[in-house]
Amino acid sequence: MKVRVPASSANLGPGFDCFGIAWKLYNEIEFIPDVSSLKITGCPADYQNENNLCYRAYCAALNYCELPEKPVEINFLKNEIPISRGLGSSAALIVSGVTAANELNNLKLSKNELLSIATEIEGHPDNIAPALFGGFTASAMDKALALSVSYPLSSKLHFTAIIPDFELSTELSRSVLPDMVSKSDAVFNISRSALLIKALEDGNFVLLSTALQDKLHQKYRFRLIDGFDEVKECAMRCGAAGICISGAGSTLLCISDCETFTDEMRAEMHKIFPNWSIISLQCDSDGAAIIK
Ligand code: HSE
Repeated sequence: MKVRVPASSANLGPGFDCFGIAWKLYNEIEFIPDVSSLKITGCPADYQNENNLCYRAYCAALNYCELPEKPVEINFLKNEIPISRGLGSSAALIVSGVTAANELNNLKLSKNELLSIATEIEGHPDNIAPALFGGFTASAMDKALALSVSYPLSSKLHFTAIIPDFELSTELSRSVLPDMVSKSDAVFNISRSALLIKALEDGNFVLLSTALQDKLHQKYRFRLIDGFDEVKECAMRCGAAGICISGAGSTLLCISDCETFTDEMRAEMHKIFPNWSIISLQCDSDGAAIIK
């Protein structure tokens, strides 16, 4: 049995730990049950053990149903999602594990239950929800229960990922954030988050440039992304409506209304950061899926 699971960008500016979009950039993982011992292939040797996030998620779904952990063979067949770049690679691993456990063990868990199990491992639901459901999602925790809703995304929007040649760990990226925020910063983000839903639905680029603003996390994180100022200047010159950090970074996400934006940005970026990767992203609307 194989699971295909999409990459995702969390936060989208003001929606810290809440918004996320799934992308047509996939990992494919094969699961073979009824084996005598755990076997993992297709990933670095350090991860070929029982601490593997995908296997931990597989066992978490079994434990949720009060079933004992079981060995399984896990083969990472396709790894398109870059690691530690803010494109939801850990969420993809976790979502594939809970999805496979559900299917292979006939657990009959709903996607909402899988969302809560997976979120408990990840710590926040904003990458888990789009990886599981696809599309543009907002999610929240209500005690241990994770909730998610989906919003439409205008086809007028063009998304471009600017992927640096360096990793940024979520742990480091979260460690620079203050524990307390001011009332005015909280109001600033609440208002932009509400505007962003509408701007993304309508493809309203004038609204989008305001709606992508944030005061809760990005100003602390930009300094961890060497080259951010040059990239922002380049993106604005090429006609982006806005730029934000994808998840905890290091990837930057540009939104534009121009089909040629990605090509123009790639040509410009090649002059300053030739080792960075510039790719066009399309929204995945399926989320995690069992494939042939
Ligand atoms: N919302 C999370 C963050 C996404 O920005 O830290 C990364 O896991």
